[in-house]
Amino acid sequence: MTDKYAVIGNPIEHSKSPQIHAAFAEQTGEDIEYGRILGDMEDFYGDVRDFVGAGGKGLNVTVPFKERAWQLVNERSELARHAGAVNTIILLENGRLRGDNTDGIGLVRDLEQNHGFDLEGKRILLIGAGGASRGILLPLLEKHPQEVVIANRTESKAVDLAHLFTEQGQVTGVGLEHEHDESFDLIINGTSAGLSGRVPAISAGCLKPGGWTYDMMYSDEPTAFVRWGLEQGAAKALDGLGMLVEQAAESFFLWRGVRPETAPVIRQLRP
Ligand code: ATR
Repeated sequence: MTDKYAVIGNPIEHSKSPQIHAAFAEQTGEDIEYGRILGDMEDFYGDVRDFVGAGGKGLNVTVPFKERAWQLVNERSELARHAGAVNTIILLENGRLRGDNTDGIGLVRDLEQNHGFDLEGKRILLIGAGGASRGILLPLLEKHPQEVVIANRTESKAVDLAHLFTEQGQVTGVGLEHEHDESFDLIINGTSAGLSGRVPAISAGCLKPGGWTYDMMYSDEPTAFVRWGLEQGAAKALDGLGMLVEQAAESFFLWRGVRPETAPVIRQLRP
């Protein structure tokens, strides 16, 4: 019987995950079906229960349910524990639900393997201190950057987030306005400002000559942050399409034990 998987979120109609996983399945010959579920804002747990009850083998979880998924699962990977959020649910043989988080691996693989950016020894500015930023910090710090500075509009949230990761590397939290005269090799946008076409108010000149920018968001048009990066003279101004495909590939691997090739899928999705 075909194994069933799905992505659950709200809204969900624009999710590219079904297309990505269909491409992985075709490429690897894995017999899976992958759908999309519009999650009930009041009854996320019920939706998961129904899906598993109907034979579902695993779920990807997206906005706004990643924290609720973290609460729901019976056990968590180390990445999920640090992220405080679950984007991948795996139904185990014993019927328990395991939560993992593949977002940070997705970001790191896109930067290092797809684009050849070596994170070791680099100075990184991470803008935003919400779930998106928290989700990537552990995999990022495991690559031994010189330093990660988290800058957030609400400074206290950046400070709190940095405190959660002090044992994992050199990480500090500041307000957005505090990072004027710094010079970073890489600036990552983890804010939701792009949803309304805006760029967080980062001072010009904080990107090193030859530095890169990375928007964790993706859209068919260049995002506001990609345009900002190009204006700052970034050697590369990347968006989150590669991260999206890489996190999906890691989820696919967790479920199926098979690692799909991502490059052809990224090419296929890029308009
Ligand atoms: P997510 O889980 O997607 O990260 P979130 O937890 O609501 O969502 O966090 C959104 C992040 O984007 C926050 O860091 C937020 O800053 P505040 O903590 O100060 O609210 C940031 N953000 C959203 N809109 C922004 C804007 N226009 N300028 C700067 N930062 C913005």
